[in-house]
Amino acid sequence: MAQYDVIIIGGGPGGYNAGIRAGQLGLKAAVVEKRVTLGGTCLNVGCMPSKALLHASELYEAAGGEFATLGIEVKPKLNLVQMMKQKAESVTALTKGIEFLFKKNKVDWVKGFGKITGPGKVEVTAEDGAVTSLEAKNIVIATGSEPTPLPGVTIDQQRIVDSTGALSLPEVPKSLIVIGAGIIGLELGSVWRRLGAKVTVVEFLDRITPGMDNETAKTFQRSLTKQGMEFKLGAKVTGAKAGKSSVSLTVEPVAGGAAETLEADYVLVAIGRRPYTEGLGLETVGVTPDKRGFIETDHFKTSAPGVWAIGDAIHGPMLAHKAEEDAVACIEMIAGKYGHVDYNLVPSVVYTYPEVAWVGKTEEQLKEAGVAYKVGKFPFTANSRAKINHETEGFAKVIADAKTDEILGVHIIGPQAGEMIGEYCVAMAFKAASEDIARVCHPHPTRSEAGRQAAMGVEGWTMQA
Ligand code: FAD
Ligand code: NAI
Repeated sequence: MAQYDVIIIGGGPGGYNAGIRAGQLGLKAAVVEKRVTLGGTCLNVGCMPSKALLHASELYEAAGGEFATLGIEVKPKLNLVQMMKQKAESVTALTKGIEFLFKKNKVDWVKGFGKITGPGKVEVTAEDGAVTSLEAKNIVIATGSEPTPLPGVTIDQQRIVDSTGALSLPEVPKSLIVIGAGIIGLELGSVWRRLGAKVTVVEFLDRITPGMDNETAKTFQRSLTKQGMEFKLGAKVTGAKAGKSSVSLTVEPVAGGAAETLEADYVLVAIGRRPYTEGLGLETVGVTPDKRGFIETDHFKTSAPGVWAIGDAIHGPMLAHKAEEDAVACIEMIAGKYGHVDYNLVPSVVYTYPEVAWVGKTEEQLKEAGVAYKVGKFPFTANSRAKINHETEGFAKVIADAKTDEILGVHIIGPQAGEMIGEYCVAMAFKAASEDIARVCHPHPTRSEAGRQAAMGVEGWTMQA
């Protein structure tokens, strides 16, 4: 029986970071992963392949349009096979990188499906059926999540796909219907629209991207609409029939009214993700997930002594960097240190064009909490870098406490917003006031100056607008 200090079930951003941190702290660690590669959803079928396609498709579209404005005349020709190949190569390089880090930090990768069989006990069943028994004082559940199914719409990964299928379509659809105007739907919808598909997004709510600051979401929807994406808001899909080369969907207004039928070559179902704990043996240690499938934790501790949980399997934003934060804090606690995660400072980024990035509170959340705030907003139309690059869409918006001036939330929409938000994560972690940012010299000409100008706007002394 192999003995460990900690066994981690799942090798995604939660699990692999937990394994590496455990190794760094001198704990004997095993990571159990059933996939043939490490890296979990994020590296294999999530963040990484989607960003590879977003990057390539953005350049393809720019080459067919915006390049000419810059005096570069080319006629781009799509080679979808090569686009998919470079995506797969990047993914392989990244997953191999995790294997290297495991070796470097003396973390064992136990290949196969992990099942908890009692306190401190895990059984791993390999692909060939061989079973290995492991023991440890601590077990960390990092089994992640899976797409939420939609009743009446069966995923066949041929015509009706989830995000995994949408990352590897064999052709550019003539028409694609996306169900769900969330992050997956808008990112992958953008990829296929840029490559030539007519994309229609059907969303249950009367807005896109719930959770995003309202004003920013409205600007975002306007921009995507201008690019040719169509939105059917306040609509629910009640059934789907997949044929050989197309799908027909029954869609009804949420508010009531006549149903209509929509036809498309392909349908992407992207209505959220749910924790994945199937066959994990939680009952053997007396852990019962909540109604939505999440494992309830208190500082990563489950109700069972010695059983911890992190990442998408527990509450909080389902994001790779959040899983990574959970992992480090959880392992530090197992090692007798003081792990901590500030969930208010987990940033969100939508990697579309324009990008949308935010951290902290939205105006709506502050209103609801009765917090008095001031807003500074700066449009990229007045930012010199944005102007010379012909990328003037969007704005940076800083929200600060009306009394103390502490920064409470930042919302940026525009190219490279994701790169800009990190500055504000650091500032907010140090409890910066808006004036602190406003008085810090930023490089010229950069888009980050718009972030500073927004902070100056809170103080009432914006220079450039
Ligand atoms: P996962 O990454 O899901 O890893 C869990 C692993 O556990 C899996 O590999 C699974 O095979 C394994 N496993 C499960 N059960 C067992 C078992 N019993 N035995 C052995 N192994 C098991 N997040 C971002 O922050 N940025 C992005 O840009 C981004 N893009 C995304 C794009 C898409 C299309 C999708 C689907 C997700 C995206 N995400 C993104 C979300 C991100 O992928 C997840 O938040 C992150 O992967 C969660 O990490 P995790 O370790 O908790 O779980
Ligand atoms: P999501 O929660 O972001 O969006 C789902 C959308 O579907 C919501 O707008 C919701 O109102 C809508 N919806 C729900 N049921 C519906 C129905 N029956 N009909 C029509 N619409 C319906 O979920 P999504 O896009 O599937 O992504 C899952 C998670 O993956 C995200 O929440 C995010 O945590 C993560 N992710 C992160 C990315 C990033 O950080 N850039 C990229 C992709 C995914």
